[in-house]
Amino acid sequence: MKRILVVYFSQSGQLKNILQSLVKPLIEAGHKIHFEEIKVVEKYPFPWSAFEFFNAFPETFMQKPMALESFSVASSGDFDLVILGYQPWFLTPSRPISSFLQSVEGKKMLNGKSVITILGCRNMWLGAQEKVKQKLIEANAKLIGHVALIDKSGNLTSLVTILRWMLAGKKEPFWIFPAAGVSARDVEHSRAFGESIKKAIESNEFGSLQDHFLSEGAIEIKPNLVLMERRGQKSFSIWSKFVAAGGNAQSTGRKIRVYVFMFLLPTMIIILTPLLWILSAIMLTVKRKHIVKEIAYFKQTTLRERAKTV
Ligand SMILES: Cc1cc2nc3c(=O)[nH]c(=O)nc-3n(C[C@H](O)[C@H](O)[C@H](O)COP(=O)(O)O)c2cc1C
Repeated sequence: MKRILVVYFSQSGQLKNILQSLVKPLIEAGHKIHFEEIKVVEKYPFPWSAFEFFNAFPETFMQKPMALESFSVASSGDFDLVILGYQPWFLTPSRPISSFLQSVEGKKMLNGKSVITILGCRNMWLGAQEKVKQKLIEANAKLIGHVALIDKSGNLTSLVTILRWMLAGKKEPFWIFPAAGVSARDVEHSRAFGESIKKAIESNEFGSLQDHFLSEGAIEIKPNLVLMERRGQKSFSIWSKFVAAGGNAQSTGRKIRVYVFMFLLPTMIIILTPLLWILSAIMLTVKRKHIVKEIAYFKQTTLRERAKTV
């Protein structure tokens, strides 16, 4: 019997459902799973108000740690494997997760452990995973597998449905739009990744785990999103400084800056999506080799030496 720690944060419960589906084969095989939910002292609202949503941006992007409630499991716990379930917020691991990764207790929990990351998001996670890889290295943990579950609808479609879900709490289909988030089918399919983990942990052979994940559809990357992420990371690093320079959340200066960002971000995505779609079609012909290489890089688990964000 192996002992597996599942550390996660989830606002709507989407990620928790993914993880519960994933661990089923492990539970059925008699392995012991401990679910550890990361809880923040100052809770985020769900659904969010538009202001609170965009106001969370600078500190999230800058990975500023926030206070967490204490964990139910001892940080020195003897686990054979850690599964880290997280979601990107603003192209960065969500603030509760980045706080966990930077906390003394979290680092102790991860020290010397093999870690599998699994995320559920809209569709932009490449840079967030690079930041998580970096934090895992700093915690002396070894990343051995990665699964990224995304909303497979078009970029603009998922932008509309996720904003409706996050800001009004409505996830169901409406008008011409599908339900928001990772599809129920993909949540259910996570079980297949649990099967691969079961085989790997029982044979103590993790070398081919990521290949097994990939053969089960663990990661799908659209070329235009590689380009969009790269631009997003660059512009977010400027925007986060601009909004943070407004001072604390109560100050008028900050409020004005948050409203400017709130208006410009969706506008930029709407304008850039078709442009980048055309650009990526051109780039795919001109720089095909480079983009194919980038996609292959994001499908594996090591961090490149010259740690570029994306
Ligand atoms: C503040 C905020 C920012 C987000 N930013 C991103 C993002 O950059 N990329 C992405 O693909 N999804 C993004 N999402 C969607 C989340 O990754 C996630 O799918 C969603 O919040 C549901 O997760 P949960 O209910 O399990 O916490 C964001 C969500 C929130 C609340």
